[in-house]
Amino acid sequence: MIQPVQTDADLRHLNTLHLPAHAARLQPVDDASDLPTLTQAARDAGGPVLVLGGGSNIVFGRNVDGTVLHMRTLGIDLLAQSGNDVLVSVAAGENWHDWVARALAHGWHGLENLALIPGTVGAAPVQNIGAYGVELIDRLDHVDAWDMTDRRWLRLSADECRAGYRDSVFKHELAQRAIITRVAFRLTTEARVRCDYADLQRELSSRGVTQVTPQHVFDAVCAVRRAKLPDPAVLGNAGSFFRNPVLPAADAARLLAAHPDAAHYPAAHGAVKVAAAWLIDQCGWKGARRGDAGVHDRQALVLVNHGEASAADLLGLAADIQASVQARFGVTLEPEPLILR
Ligand code: EPU
Repeated sequence: MIQPVQTDADLRHLNTLHLPAHAARLQPVDDASDLPTLTQAARDAGGPVLVLGGGSNIVFGRNVDGTVLHMRTLGIDLLAQSGNDVLVSVAAGENWHDWVARALAHGWHGLENLALIPGTVGAAPVQNIGAYGVELIDRLDHVDAWDMTDRRWLRLSADECRAGYRDSVFKHELAQRAIITRVAFRLTTEARVRCDYADLQRELSSRGVTQVTPQHVFDAVCAVRRAKLPDPAVLGNAGSFFRNPVLPAADAARLLAAHPDAAHYPAAHGAVKVAAAWLIDQCGWKGARRGDAGVHDRQALVLVNHGEASAADLLGLAADIQASVQARFGVTLEPEPLILR
């Protein structure tokens, strides 16, 4: 049954930064097959249509004078199993971390490194979530979506999602157009692990683990994240507020000649990904606070809302951080979450 639309709805509890904002209309979506009807109704009502999952990658800089579709669809379906390979389709509204934990409990491996990432399954392909050496695209088979513009169902192969670092087709051609309804994953029952990320290795060896299992990786990732990243239920945040800048080889060489200790990783075509957290930290921002907007005291890349911060407080702080990193290092930081200005 379609849930009633709520008018002048408070969105504070639907975004992990806990920013105050209202939507002219808030429509829960509990069944993807209602989307043709619900998107038509939203269009008829006027104003923009915004799709919201866990609200963990959005900055409400203003109210939404249209309809927010809140994806709450649930369901995990094993589509195929052959030898060690499993193909599992998961509904968009499932909580990401709960799905990772359930996959592990089933013995379906490959997602452990992505434990504890806030948000929903349907939001994961949009920014191609990644952590501790694994990105969603490494485990993706296909994505199902409703195209609100052409009014038809889509199935995109992993290639068609054109995933990059915190990027995909859903941020470009299909932005404001495709509503992801299900994500299908290719996982394995083999106990294969990926644990070369430095923080992860450190955690595993501090636990004295030698024969690393997927459960060990899951536990270690949870511990590392809990130590560094604030829990949005306790302290409002949207994860990393900036992308790690990817510099062309020549620019990176200049930066690293002047700052040999800058944390960095190799990227494609000789480019270098520099740790934005390091750049921000060097500018002295860690733990800084302006009113209720602040920089997390254990991870300089995470901006937090200590309680009553407004979007203006937070975006003002973000702009000052960008300006100081630009002035000191000549590096431009791009925000990572979607910002509604
Ligand atoms: N660092 C500092 N100061 C800090 C924090 C980190 O100098 O305050 C240095 C660290 O010493 C390290 C480097 O920066 O050498 C990188 O730090 P970290 O390993 O914590 O990772 P990150 O590059 O800051 C990225 C992702 C995270 C993901 C981690 C682990 C982005 C924008 N962020 O952060 O993803 O969890 O790697 O893989 O790519 C997210 O996207 O919301 C997110 C949390």
